[in-house]
Amino acid sequence: MTPAGASPLAAATRLSGGAPSEALSPEKRAQFDAIAATAREAAGLHIVPEKSAMVFSRIGKRLRALGLASLDDYIALIRGPGAAQEREHLISALTTNVTSFFREDHHFAHFADAILPGLIARARAGGRVRLWSSACSSGQEAYSLAMVVLERFPEAARHDLRILASDIDHQVLATARAATYPADLVAPLTAGGRDRFLRPAEGDEVAVKDEVRALVAFRHLNLMGNWPMKGRFDVIFCRNVMIYFDQPTQNRLISRFAEVCAPGAVLYLGHSERIDPASGAPFRQVGQTTFVFEPAAAAHLHMPFGAHQEHPDVSP
Ligand SMILES: C[S@@+](CC[C@H](N)C(=O)[O-])C[C@H]1O[C@@H](n2cnc3c(N)ncnc32)[C@H](O)[C@@H]1O
Repeated sequence: MTPAGASPLAAATRLSGGAPSEALSPEKRAQFDAIAATAREAAGLHIVPEKSAMVFSRIGKRLRALGLASLDDYIALIRGPGAAQEREHLISALTTNVTSFFREDHHFAHFADAILPGLIARARAGGRVRLWSSACSSGQEAYSLAMVVLERFPEAARHDLRILASDIDHQVLATARAATYPADLVAPLTAGGRDRFLRPAEGDEVAVKDEVRALVAFRHLNLMGNWPMKGRFDVIFCRNVMIYFDQPTQNRLISRFAEVCAPGAVLYLGHSERIDPASGAPFRQVGQTTFVFEPAAAAHLHMPFGAHQEHPDVSP
């Protein structure tokens, strides 16, 4: 499907780089370090002191929402027992959930033209096909993928083709599962796509049709944590989340992706993200932000990427 236009939404906010904040007092620096360490531990986020003004401002809002008196109280909360829920709010405050239907639409065009035909042939022959939107935010990326699949393969649901969509943030996952969006957010779809895959909902909202939703399973998953999937993926979208991780963390993530990729799988990264060429990761670059998993590319490194063919179970 060709999107009707560019996303009206702003690009993701980085947590590294940018204009330096004013020098921090020792007390403020200690508070910043405690928050940064917690964000790293919880989600792998790499936050530099230059971003301290943004960090304190966003956490100030959480403090007020929680009715806490001081930043030290907040730090005690995110480091204390039962901190999981507030840590999630912290990660949400420090990252952006910005996304849109058919964002960076060249990936969907590449997927539709270069990758999907082979996957359809495999599914029609009784094989398994698994796609993963690995930082899916409120679901538009996964639903866009499902729409592309259905446009070329309307009977997809009758075959073993599924899309796993995961994120660390329960709140965005709830929005994704609800599958209802303000009408202006579906502007990137063509008129034909809107007719085919959306229906009117309450007020000024539209809902994604059940046919599209049926292909997607939403799950809570921290990219830094355990991945319970048992098999391999044919396509992974990991877009606009690696920007939050430092280089060693990005490299580890990419090598974990390699462990769950089927040979020939395609990995799509966000517009400012790349695989570090020095990392030796077994991916061949085929576009600016598009990479193909080639186990042979790592053979000289004696890395444990075998020809294991099992596919992940992402059924609800
Ligand atoms: C800017 S959105 C990207 C959405 C979509 N991939 C896109 O490009 O439009 C970044 C998402 O990454 C998620 N995220 C941040 N850290 C994460 C982690 N450690 N594991 C999984 N998701 C994470 C955030 O919750 C957020 O929804």
